[in-house]
Formats: sequence, structure tokens, C-alpha cells
Amino acid sequence: MATFIVLLGPPGVGKGTQAEVIAETTGLPHVSSGDLFRENIKNATELGTLAQTYMNKGELVPDDVTIAMIRERLSKPDCKEGALLDGYPRTVVQAEALEKLLAEFDGKVDYVPYITAAEATLIERLSGRWTCKAEGHIFHEKYNPPKLAGICDLDGSELYQRDDDKAETVIRRIQVYLTLTAPLIAYYRERGILSEINGAQPIDKVSADLLAVLGK
Ligand code: AP5
Ligand code: MG
Repeated sequence: MATFIVLLGPPGVGKGTQAEVIAETTGLPHVSSGDLFRENIKNATELGTLAQTYMNKGELVPDDVTIAMIRERLSKPDCKEGALLDGYPRTVVQAEALEKLLAEFDGKVDYVPYITAAEATLIERLSGRWTCKAEGHIFHEKYNPPKLAGICDLDGSELYQRDDDKAETVIRRIQVYLTLTAPLIAYYRERGILSEINGAQPIDKVSADLLAVLGK
């Protein structure tokens, strides 16, 4: 039976950081909608050009294109045993679409770890984040610094700061999260699959709590 995990939580709470750990432990592919959009931007595709106009403003990319992109990704053979979804779904419309899509594969969302932290913590984390150009590996100048400044420990590629981590865009992303994504907390709680995780702890402690929720 396939296992689908949805990592829920505000921008900067540590979804991508924890997804790297969970993916390694469970062997499930890490499917990040934000990473897929950034890959499209890097490859200058039509989807990338469209997505960038929304991402730069901290707004959500429209549901129809986002749902189609995830449908394509989850249809790939490596997702047969399940996937670890990071940043998707982000609206109730996307959550309903995911339910229908997984039903086509005889699957369902099994776990929804919901990671929380105060807004000031999110802002501090995003302002100090450095991301690897090749694979999107994530560092923080204070909390998870690379061994060599500006260089990814894992693949040696250059680290950069995301355009949407500018202070004004971060504020907008948090507002958008509270308006459009936070309703998913009740949506998944009602289905009995939501587990709240305290994200305001060191990275390894959050990982341990997450893996415990997943029974690992
Ligand atoms: P996306 O890329 O998904 O960004 P996000 O959800 O805003 O989340 P982030 O990636 O910023 O944060 P994170 O929780 O992954 O934190 P991280 O682990 O990096 O989306 C970007 C944009 O794409 C959206 O704004 C939207 O435009 C579009 N988009 C994406 N999905 C979409 C969808 N489904 N529908 C429509 N549009 C969509 O950690 C942050 C920092 O904190 C790092 O530096 C890390 O090292 C550090 N850190 C992590 N954990 C800890 C800890 N416990 N203690 C100390 N530091 C920590
Ligand atoms: Mg992320």
C-alpha cells in the first residue's frame, strides 16, 4: 500500500529541511511544488515564466496549473509507493483535487504533520536561508551553516538567497498562507490525520518528533 504524506506549515517553518530527512529515512520521493516551479523557471519553460510572476509577489500560482503539474509528477513511476508532498496542497481546491487524484491510484493522504512556529521565527529563518543552485539543499547562516560559506556541503554547488525571501515578499507569503492555506488545518483535522509538531525546536528535535508521528 502506498504512503502519501503532506507536510503542512507556514513559509520558513522547515518543511523543505525536514522533507530531506524524511525522504532519506522512508525512501519516499520528495515532491515540492515550490522546487518544481523553480526548476521550470531555471529551464525557462512557459510554466516557469507564468509561475515566476506570482512567486515574485508572494502570491499563489493559480490552482489549475498547480494541480496539473502535481498530477504529472505523481503519475511518474517513482511515486508508485507514495510520496512526501511539501508545499502542496495549499488551498482547499488543491486538497480536494489531491484526494481525487490519489483515489485514482487507490491511495489517500495518510499523514499530515503540521509544523508550527511563531511569525518572528519564520522571518528570521527566511532572512538567513541559503539554498543550493543545483538541488535546492537548504542551509541557514546561523542554524545550519554550510562548512564553507556560499558552497553546498552536499554537492559543492553555489548557494543563493531566494528572490521571494525579501522582507516584503515574506510578509505577503505569510498573509497568503493565513488566508488560503490555514483552512487546511481544519480540513485535515476533521479527517483525523493531522498531527501538530512544534517547529520551534532545533532541526534534529523536529525530525525526531516527525519520524515518531510517522511511526519511524
Ligand atoms: P515554497 O517553495 O513551497 O515556499 P514556502 O512554502 O513559502 O516555504 P519555504 O520553502 O519558504 O519554507 P520551508 O518551510 O520549506 O522552510 P525551509 O526548510 O526552507 O513556495 C514558494 C512559492 O511557490 C509560493 O509562494 C507560491 O508562489 C508558489 N507555490 C508553491 N507551491 C504552490 C502551490 N501548491 N500552489 C500555488 N503556488 C505555489 O527552512 C527555512 C530556513 O530555516 C532554512 O534556512 C533552514 O535551514 C532553517 N530551519 C529549518 N528548520 C529549522 C529549525 N528547526 N531551527 C532553525 N532553523 C531552521
Ligand atoms: Mg520549502
